[in-house]
Amino acid sequence: MGFTAITTEVKEGVLILRLNRPSRKNAFNHEQYEECIVALAQAAKDENLFTGAGDYFSSGNDLANFLRADSTDTTPAKDLLTRFVNAFILFPKPIVAAVNGPAVGIAATILGHCDLVYGSETCSLHTPFMQLAQSPEACSSLLFPESMGALKANEMLLLGKKFSAREALKANLLNEVFTEKGDQFTEKVFAIARQLASYPPEAVQLSKRLIRNNRRLALLDAVNKEEVELLGERWVSAECIQAVMNFMSRRQKASL
Ligand code: COA
Repeated sequence: MGFTAITTEVKEGVLILRLNRPSRKNAFNHEQYEECIVALAQAAKDENLFTGAGDYFSSGNDLANFLRADSTDTTPAKDLLTRFVNAFILFPKPIVAAVNGPAVGIAATILGHCDLVYGSETCSLHTPFMQLAQSPEACSSLLFPESMGALKANEMLLLGKKFSAREALKANLLNEVFTEKGDQFTEKVFAIARQLASYPPEAVQLSKRLIRNNRRLALLDAVNKEEVELLGERWVSAECIQAVMNFMSRRQKASL
């Protein structure tokens, strides 16, 4: 499959999966979701380095997804989101994320499924779910309170507070923050992924399974489904439609 919204490159046993819609700040349109699912399915034998092209990691769900003609039928969008999150939950080898810039919405929440997460100083994590009248996804309603405690998670998921790189580090959402920028940042994180790739693959894979705790898969699956069901309801709610229209009309006014 030829990719249009992402790029993939295998280098020294590491698959570099790069979100590649820089003109839209790497927002996830349907193609980008679908291509990530395919790339992860194909990549199961390599280590995976997950990053973004340009100055953003990703601005999250492409809000234009809501303007599709068939958007009152949420079944395809719910199915796509469920499969996207599952592709991360079930990925057998470590995923190393290089958060090269701001990560918004699903781009921030999906990091909870990555095994090592490094941020550049310009990165931030921001989930403006309430501003958009939506609700948490990618199991963040479970994983975020677990990793940073309920109060901090509420700041992020309910209050929509943007966490700087340093705040995200303190909240256990990042392993480390690096001062390198651009390609040098990616190279620095690549060296870590390459280190993992140099280890006996069976040992790494079995250990990831143990650490991730296979018994939790059923729980993650149930949380993913519950979150997606609620989101499906939110997407067609008057509150959410209004919030998305406000974003779009602000953009149109700004471009006049
Ligand atoms: N969905 C759709 N379009 C998006 C987008 C998104 N998530 N993020 C960025 N874009 C588009 C912008 O509309 C803009 O398009 P234009 O050039 O046709 O005007 C282009 O990408 C560049 O973004 P711009 O807004 O000009 O850059 P910025 O640096 O001023 O702001 C953001 C970047 C990410 C802060 C801002 O675009 C934004 O708030 N996007 C929405 C993020 C969001 O709410 N995501 C969903 C979370 S649940």
